[in-house]
Amino acid sequence: MKSFNFTVSEVMTKKTKPASNQLAFGKYFTDHMFVMEYHHKKGWYDGQIVPYQPLTLDPASMVFHYGQTVFEGLKAYATANGEIQLFRPEENIKRLNRSNVRMCIPPIDPDLALSAIKELVKLEKDWVPKAEGTSLYIRPFIIATEPNLGVEAAKQYKFVVILSPVGSYYKEGINPVKIAVENDYIRSVEGGTGEAKTAGNYAGSLIAQEIAEKEGYAQVLWLDAHEKKYIEEVGSMNVFFKIDGEIITPKLNGSILPGVTRKSVIQLLEYWDLPITERKISIEEIVEAHQAGHLEEAFGTGTAAVISPIGELNYNGEKLSINNQKTGEIAKRLYDTITGIQYGKIADTFGWINIIS
Ligand code: COI
Repeated sequence: MKSFNFTVSEVMTKKTKPASNQLAFGKYFTDHMFVMEYHHKKGWYDGQIVPYQPLTLDPASMVFHYGQTVFEGLKAYATANGEIQLFRPEENIKRLNRSNVRMCIPPIDPDLALSAIKELVKLEKDWVPKAEGTSLYIRPFIIATEPNLGVEAAKQYKFVVILSPVGSYYKEGINPVKIAVENDYIRSVEGGTGEAKTAGNYAGSLIAQEIAEKEGYAQVLWLDAHEKKYIEEVGSMNVFFKIDGEIITPKLNGSILPGVTRKSVIQLLEYWDLPITERKISIEEIVEAHQAGHLEEAFGTGTAAVISPIGELNYNGEKLSINNQKTGEIAKRLYDTITGIQYGKIADTFGWINIIS
């Protein structure tokens, strides 16, 4: 890996760290952040670690008007023997660059992005929480900063990395969540931006999520845009079902986010020789499997959500209770194995761990 020199300005006074039982998700931020500029004539330049602070942007910055922005989400974990490690960061950086292509944002040298993340986490290693189920969430993002109101790709950008100590994403923790199947709004369509990690996909999803939350559901399950028939993904995670022994996840089709946890789950299931199929799966198939008593498990996967069992699906007012609203055997095994590897309790035979210090 190439090496890079970033200038580092450290804070004079460090913040008080929150207690681990207060963390929730994305509410606290560490003492420093990484910033780097892009200019079309210079490329990416001036990478720096600076005190965590507000960004000063021209109000005409193109990100505010046309939403040219991408982001990523990965985590740093503290192991029992005092190491700090990342889980498959190369996959997040590859996806960042794929999102960049879709959003007409210039690519970043993967080694440069990984060095920036590692240097920042190394400096902030005391912020990696140690309590069970906690970690340091890493949020790299890029915004278009060129002041210009013409609709075109910007010529200037900022790459920023911020860090947030987190607990579980859902208030339910690792207990099953309830999900409402969304029948009115759609998240994405093939050829759209669904497989890019870009802000607009999330902004457009909020209205459905707000409605679902009012009814007591954690998030929504999105259906395809053409027929509102085939399952795509949940708000912040990919989704898996176990029907009659077969584990099924929607096949990536251009409108589904290619999750790093999703990919790891598929690899683990294949390694365990369990039947895993990536294919189209309709909501009717789920309802029928439930009626026949064959819907054995459902769970979501994501960096923030890890493995999140789904205890109930609401489809058009019909409530499908899954596995008596208990965590299923496969979800538990995947959760234990993935978090075991992430926290260094299980040997990483897949080469997924990248040790920071
Ligand atoms: C993640 O799992 O890292 C995500 O980006 C999901 C969400 C918090 C937007």
